[in-house]
Amino acid sequence: MTGSHKALADELRPKIKGIVRADEPMSRHASLGIGGPADLYAEPACEDDVIVLLRESARLGLPWFPMGDGQNLLVSDKGVRGLVIRLGKPMSHIRITDTRMVAGAGAKLTKAVDMAVQHSLGGLEGATGVPGTIGGAVVMNAGTRAGYIGDVIQRVRLVNSDGSSRELTRAELEFSYRTTGFQSGGCIITEAEFELRPGDKRELLAIVERLRRSRATTQPVIGKSAGCMFKNPPDQHAGYLIEEAGLKGMRVGDAEVSDKHGNFLMNVGSATAEQMLALAERVRGIVKERYGLALEYEVRLVGDWPKVE
Ligand code: EPU
Repeated sequence: MTGSHKALADELRPKIKGIVRADEPMSRHASLGIGGPADLYAEPACEDDVIVLLRESARLGLPWFPMGDGQNLLVSDKGVRGLVIRLGKPMSHIRITDTRMVAGAGAKLTKAVDMAVQHSLGGLEGATGVPGTIGGAVVMNAGTRAGYIGDVIQRVRLVNSDGSSRELTRAELEFSYRTTGFQSGGCIITEAEFELRPGDKRELLAIVERLRRSRATTQPVIGKSAGCMFKNPPDQHAGYLIEEAGLKGMRVGDAEVSDKHGNFLMNVGSATAEQMLALAERVRGIVKERYGLALEYEVRLVGDWPKVE
């Protein structure tokens, strides 16, 4: 990248309706409260802003990285080179017509679930209480055993790295457990459409209530985390394995394995990304030694990191 970050931010700012900043600390935007500065940071106000930002990135040779609520990210202490594009409130429309819901990438998943239930529509309630935005939820195929986003998705609108926009239909999307074709990057989701099914509002509310209660009793609801750190290995639960290995409460600096749920690694003070990764790697090492299982990260490592095997 040529030129100072501030000069580049000044150049980009007048080209979009949204916000552009230089050297933005990512610890402000990641639920873990960890992460060094992004060289450039933008909050687009609309899809046209996303198009401009990606065209400009291509022209300037800037790498870019899209984020939503930062619920599933561990950002390096060294920060992120290039442009972080955060899709949030300005792109959070939710519209319901009959059984179809269209939601902007920046809409909160929980709000989408609540609105569906209020309209007596089922299909999204499995994702109740899952933090994050629609865009992030689509990229991660968020949800729980009671249902995943991928089950009800019909259409996704996105912007490609050259700034062209397009729509993908259900048949063109690849969804499996915590995995989608979107994780390889190369595009930014701006909107998603879901096909829901008519249901009984009281029953749906009861399901939502039950799932929320169960989450509150099994997972840490206060404190800084990125949700589950690792994917569950096939037919296993990472949290169970971590507890059985006696690792709850293990600590590196201010990074700590939750006492409540072993797959939650918490920032209990001012943990650094290095401490968090060291703790996660220690947990992985012990689980590997004890069970012969290599835990895979669910949380995405963003920025400059040593390669993790
Ligand atoms: N368990 C333990 N000790 C622990 C944690 C769990 O023994 O510390 C046991 C539980 O007793 C239970 C089993 O492991 O028998 C499964 O636990 P839980 O129901 O909490 O589900 P999970 O497999 O650990 C998954 C998702 C969660 C999601 C829950 C609820 C993954 C990696 N995690 O957790 O998603 O909220 O199911 O459906 O798939 C996330 O994505 O960030 C996340 C937290």
